[in-house]
Amino acid sequence: MRQLDLVGSNGRLKLPRFRFSKVIFWCVLAVPLALLINDIRIELTSPTLGLGADPEDAIVDHLGIWSIRMLWFTLFISSLSRLTRKPILIQFRRMAGLWTFAMVCLHVTSYVLLLARIDVMVILADFTERPYIIAGLTALCTLIPLAITSTRGWRRKLRQNWNRLHRLIYIAAIAAWIHLFWLERATFEESAIYGAILVVLFGERIVNTIRTRKRKQTVKAVS
Ligand code: HEM
Repeated sequence: MRQLDLVGSNGRLKLPRFRFSKVIFWCVLAVPLALLINDIRIELTSPTLGLGADPEDAIVDHLGIWSIRMLWFTLFISSLSRLTRKPILIQFRRMAGLWTFAMVCLHVTSYVLLLARIDVMVILADFTERPYIIAGLTALCTLIPLAITSTRGWRRKLRQNWNRLHRLIYIAAIAAWIHLFWLERATFEESAIYGAILVVLFGERIVNTIRTRKRKQTVKAVS
């Protein structure tokens, strides 16, 4: 009877839904944005108290640094799910990925509105002349197809190709790290810490791929 409950009307395995946990998780992911909104509110009533001497820069930086943190966190959820053997955690990865994309969009929008002041010539000059912005643009462009195809419908439609396409997240992560590394303002320690975390996350994936391949070879050899 219990087993039957786990199978949906379409014959697919029904994964337990964590509606309440998802709401909590969504609220946690919203904290960085809520903090920024609060800082902007303070800034509007008491200038320099909320965002410091350069409020425009502070907004772009806050959204940028949280974009990269959320991207790393999204990668971490997959690793955690494998290491703890809890595939259920993957249900939370999509939400983290979409929040990452939302933060990136806000980061880029804040750059266009506050730093470039919607001046197309400034934007074009930045996109062609500043290497760190080219790296940021590369990261943004690779994240767009991932956000579009993140739905169940697309996953079903693309099948194996979905996994292949979503490997673009590695390119997005490397480009985002180069973006941070190339920033004149970013300290070496800051980029080194983010770089080291990325190496660990990639290392886990490489080890997992090697193990899976070995397991498959052993199964083939036995059968
Ligand atoms: C078209 C795409 C992008 C543009 C135009 C852009 C632009 C910028 C600019 C102008 C800054 C501030 C530089 C300064 O303060 O001197 C910045 C900082 C930053 N951006 Fe981006 N960015 C883009 C995409 C991304 C993406 C995709 C990510 C991460 C996923 C990202 C993460 C960051 C980080 C971590 C910082 C540094 C923040 C800090 O040090 O506090 N950016 N970006």
